[in-house]
Amino acid sequence: MIIIAKRLQSVQEYYFSKKLGEIALLNAEGRDIINLGIGSPDMAPPQQAVKALSTSANKAAEHGYQSYKGVRELRQAFCDWYAAYYNVSLNPDTEVLPLMGSKEGITYISNTYLNEGDKVLVPNPGYPAYAAATKIAGGVVREYDLKEENNWFPDLKALQEQDLTGVKIMWVNYPHMPTGAQASRAQLVELVTFAERNGILLCHDNPYSFILNNTPLSIFSVMGVAEHVLELNSLSKSHNLAGWRVGMVAGHPKHIENILIAKSNVDSGMFLGIQKGAIKALEMPSGWYEGLNEIYRERRKIVWQIMEELKCSYSRNQAGLFVWGKVRDEVEEVSCLVNDLLYKAGVFVTPGFIFGTNGNRYIRVSLCSDTERLKSALNRIKTLGTKL
Ligand SMILES: Cc1ncc(COP(=O)(O)O)c(C=O)c1O
Repeated sequence: MIIIAKRLQSVQEYYFSKKLGEIALLNAEGRDIINLGIGSPDMAPPQQAVKALSTSANKAAEHGYQSYKGVRELRQAFCDWYAAYYNVSLNPDTEVLPLMGSKEGITYISNTYLNEGDKVLVPNPGYPAYAAATKIAGGVVREYDLKEENNWFPDLKALQEQDLTGVKIMWVNYPHMPTGAQASRAQLVELVTFAERNGILLCHDNPYSFILNNTPLSIFSVMGVAEHVLELNSLSKSHNLAGWRVGMVAGHPKHIENILIAKSNVDSGMFLGIQKGAIKALEMPSGWYEGLNEIYRERRKIVWQIMEELKCSYSRNQAGLFVWGKVRDEVEEVSCLVNDLLYKAGVFVTPGFIFGTNGNRYIRVSLCSDTERLKSALNRIKTLGTKL
């Protein structure tokens, strides 16, 4: 038997990869499972983007390997997007690197900076990829607490009092997934200041700033590009392009050069048609985002009803693609509630525990289904009523 590498032994198969298998089995048995688990936008991307992709795909000369750094026009488009919506000035030649989704950026940053045993501050609850990438790169995860009573913002004073020796990276993500909490400009300043004081590389993961959020903020909106700050961004949610895999990392030129070493030894550039489509997507006017948000607002009203039907408490002030709700005390095991919802109602929602122990008493419901589907989910849940 060939044994799996040690670096993977502490990392489990991604929760959704397992659960989607279970859902597929149920569907194969004839059930029609309403999947409100995953945040994969269901709406169409900008037409202009699709057209640019298909035009390029029809040109024989545009199917070759591409530059590891992406075409300059794409880097410029990212910079124009940052200037227009975040009021941040970035240099397209030195401060931006297109990525195939921001998730791969989490891995590249970890591989670029972590030595065996380096510590990484990871939010609990938070996106599971931060911890997984840390472990795979040989780092040690140091969770920091996010609590509802602090509106899911870290207690930086308490953190400062801990021994931070050996901490190299801190992951932050606002608007925060899974809780939908937003950080103010002043709070972003606090994070940047904390990281600088402690010699930590602050990595801000920012894929949700355009979804149900009135003021998109970049970590660079607060103090400009600094040597100890990186930001990941993505077109997956903002432009309904999750399957295309387009994202970026921005930061100090030295970091971009370093991350390129990790990246260029793994992939061989992004398909030109996708880059051309992404440029068109990034050029969309503000009405594009308003249109999306109008639809998400309508959907969210139904998800709020689902939360109420399940007697979950939740904030109406959440940004991003999900509604995060606290399960009532009488429910002993959230995993049982989630399984009852799946097997009895045919509705899949995500249990909060997959995001860390501080998510144990919560569930997360996605807004990536149309209102009809959400209403069906609501009706199924209502029908089951007290059986849940
Ligand atoms: C917080 C967070 N970061 C990053 C990602 C990954 O986005 P991308 O599709 O750009 O890899 C997700 C996707 O669900 C996410 O929730």
